[in-house]
Amino acid sequence: MKTMMRDILLALPKTDIHCHLDGSVRPATVLELARRLKVKLPADTVEGLLPFVTVAPTCRSLKEFLDVFELIYPLLRDPVSVERIAYELVEDCAKENIRHVEARFAPVLQETSKFSSDQVVEAALKGLRKGFKDFGTTSSVIVCLIRSHGPKENRRAFETLKRMFRPQSRLEEPAVVALDLAGDEARYPTRDYASFYEEAKRLGIWTTCHAGETKGTENLRTALDLCVQRIGHGIHLMEDQKLVAEVVRRKIPVEIGISSNVRTKSVPDLKSHPALDFHKAGVPITLNTDDRGIIGIDLTHEYEEALALGFTLEELAKLAVDSTDHLFLPADQRARLRRRFESEARAALQKENA
Ligand code: HPA
Ligand code: ZN
Repeated sequence: MKTMMRDILLALPKTDIHCHLDGSVRPATVLELARRLKVKLPADTVEGLLPFVTVAPTCRSLKEFLDVFELIYPLLRDPVSVERIAYELVEDCAKENIRHVEARFAPVLQETSKFSSDQVVEAALKGLRKGFKDFGTTSSVIVCLIRSHGPKENRRAFETLKRMFRPQSRLEEPAVVALDLAGDEARYPTRDYASFYEEAKRLGIWTTCHAGETKGTENLRTALDLCVQRIGHGIHLMEDQKLVAEVVRRKIPVEIGISSNVRTKSVPDLKSHPALDFHKAGVPITLNTDDRGIIGIDLTHEYEEALALGFTLEELAKLAVDSTDHLFLPADQRARLRRRFESEARAALQKENA
């Protein structure tokens, strides 16, 4: 029975709009990248490596979660690696009927004196383009600033974003579309990065922001004041009903990552996750992987977790279709994808009754 349900969820057309490229690397690929670059890892088999490249359920905080990435970054400072992980992400998405993925990463974490921030983004776009040709899943890129980075480094990332931003992208041509802010939210408040969001707004660059993933609602207030079009995680939203009302009124979608939130202890456990409360309150939500490699999950698993929280299959199918309305794409491209999702979701649901 359970397998049947997974089959239906697999068949649903889906999007993943909160997906860190650097958190989505297959463990087997980590091993191969290290061998090619002659980087020493703490283990030389996939099984041996797993405890070092995945986050254990005993993880206590977002900070501890983010520390796991440190082993992966040195392997991504190379164009062949970046192109490969982008290509493999598209392959993994296509396997579970994710039709569009917005891959985000911080190019400054991957640059070197020989591999510029622009070239990091170009390598990712190349992998995404190739992935689309081979597997049919379309994609976009979101450039992340990092909270612990100084203004100089974040300015470099922002300039890359400005140079490479393509507002009129078509589905078939992966492009840089938006700004995000990632990293240790508990230590670095969002208001310190306000000027980047103000500049993005002036330039017509789409914006999202990790906010309310760790304690409190202050960063959510700031993100809304900065006119973000989407919110990453937003777990603490329900603590302030005024904010809830505003998000509902402005129709700002929250990019949910259920397993990620459980793993970073943003919520104490699965049953405490507020996704269904958001939904009942009228907050638009989308389901996403966040870091499929580091967490060891896929998006279909996230839909299963949502079922466990009490969403119905029909509600999940509607969430998947509605997610196309929130893509950072021109309206005509979003509408194209929506039409396709509507017919494919209908077909997937008919499987249930077959
Ligand atoms: N929060 C902040 N930064 C991140 C995350 C996250 O969940 N995943 C990868 N970088
Ligand atoms: Zn994230």
